[in-house]
Amino acid sequence: MDELFRYVDEGFQASVERLSQFLRIPSVGTDPEYDPETRRCAEWLASELTGIGFDASVRDTPGQPIVVGHWPNPDATGPHLLYYGHYDVQPADPLELWESPPFEPRVMEGPKGPQIVARGAVDDKGQVMTWLEAFRAYKAVRGNLPFSITVLVEGEEESSSVNLEPFLKANAEELRSDVCIISDTGMLDVDRPAITTMLRGIVYVEVTLTGPTHDLHSGMYGGAVVNPLNALSSLLAALHDENGRVTLDGFYDSVLELTPAQSEEWKSLGFDDATFLGTAGLSQSVGESGRTVLERIWSRPTLDVNGIWGGYIGKGAKTVIPSQASAKLSCRLVPDQRADAVLRSLKTYFEKNCPPGCRIELKDLGKGDPIRVPAESPFIEATRRATTHAFPRPAALIGSGGSIPVAASIREILGIDSVLLGFGLDDDRVHSPNEKFTLVCLERGIKTHLALLDELAKK
Ligand code: BES
Ligand code: MN
Ligand code: MN
Repeated sequence: MDELFRYVDEGFQASVERLSQFLRIPSVGTDPEYDPETRRCAEWLASELTGIGFDASVRDTPGQPIVVGHWPNPDATGPHLLYYGHYDVQPADPLELWESPPFEPRVMEGPKGPQIVARGAVDDKGQVMTWLEAFRAYKAVRGNLPFSITVLVEGEEESSSVNLEPFLKANAEELRSDVCIISDTGMLDVDRPAITTMLRGIVYVEVTLTGPTHDLHSGMYGGAVVNPLNALSSLLAALHDENGRVTLDGFYDSVLELTPAQSEEWKSLGFDDATFLGTAGLSQSVGESGRTVLERIWSRPTLDVNGIWGGYIGKGAKTVIPSQASAKLSCRLVPDQRADAVLRSLKTYFEKNCPPGCRIELKDLGKGDPIRVPAESPFIEATRRATTHAFPRPAALIGSGGSIPVAASIREILGIDSVLLGFGLDDDRVHSPNEKFTLVCLERGIKTHLALLDELAKK
């Protein structure tokens, strides 16, 4: 270990420089205007992998390209690992809130030491670099990677990985491995690593209610005709009851309660509600009654309106009854809910309750099932041991409110579990202006991945 860690320490500036190069490429996967940059990012990554010694290629899809790399090691006895990550980033807007340009990474002092600020710093470029730099170091020091490794990095995670599922199906044989390692989640603190064993799924829809053929004078017609905005507001309001529960048919049918062991583990984490709420400028939690904050974000399903529009939203007053009203809705799902079933239930709800004179349209904007990783797996055990080499405190098993849509498909299509070994912090401003990755998280992430290679090579 010592020699590997020394290699990391001595080359750390160069690692940060490579991460900066990665961050300088504005791979905003959801915006077609950035398509050439997004492709350039995939090519940059493939050439980094090739430089380390991988057999890497950029693979076309109907959307953003996928990078695949192979490190065959047929003589090794260890497991075959699949590393998944994403090189696409969220749009940088609102630009005016960035203290430095989003695609000009800067290292500056932060609350936990130096941090690199740029869009994608923690989600997911910095975290992809934790294992990429570990491979580089391992190869340099030991001459070879300890077993066969396959790398899969996509450019559409932030748009629900729509083209990855068919890619997994079409290339299942090529991607065959024993376990998937994903670094795209968070920790409890810089000193306190975490392995996520429960990850929420998601259903995202856009609903549009159309009433009159055009906007009407709200005095001439108001009171006698359907107002799509009024109607949509009522429909949305009725989706929660007074206890904060979602009223969709069958929504909670397959929701699993926490096991007593998990409940105990979460209680022992010392999670501070006030600090967490404080990162959002709040002091009170709102949600399903009778549930703790951790349960609300990690193990309970939700429904949220992400945006709502229609009618007149310009300056001053304009008296209209809008022809249309729309909203974007997302549900976060937990084991064993299924995204398809929740989508059907949403459709049924809006169709059944569509007011007379209105027409409803519901667009599927992406989905992914929730996952649960068995904590008893030897891979989780090895990962826990690996973290002890790089962190002063032991790893916690946590849940995570965010979603990685492909995680469930990896289980379903490739038949393997994932180890969610993430290095983000709660204050990293994921998806927000001034996103950052603390450099000590990068360093400890690289070292943990190195230790994991060694732990798994032992057997
Ligand atoms: N890396 C995040 C998911 C995440 C965030 C996990 C924080 C744990 C903690 C991922 O890139 C993400 O943002 N996913 C989206 C998926 C959506 C666009 C389908 C999400 O969760 O909103
Ligand atoms: Mn991510
Ligand atoms: Mn993200």
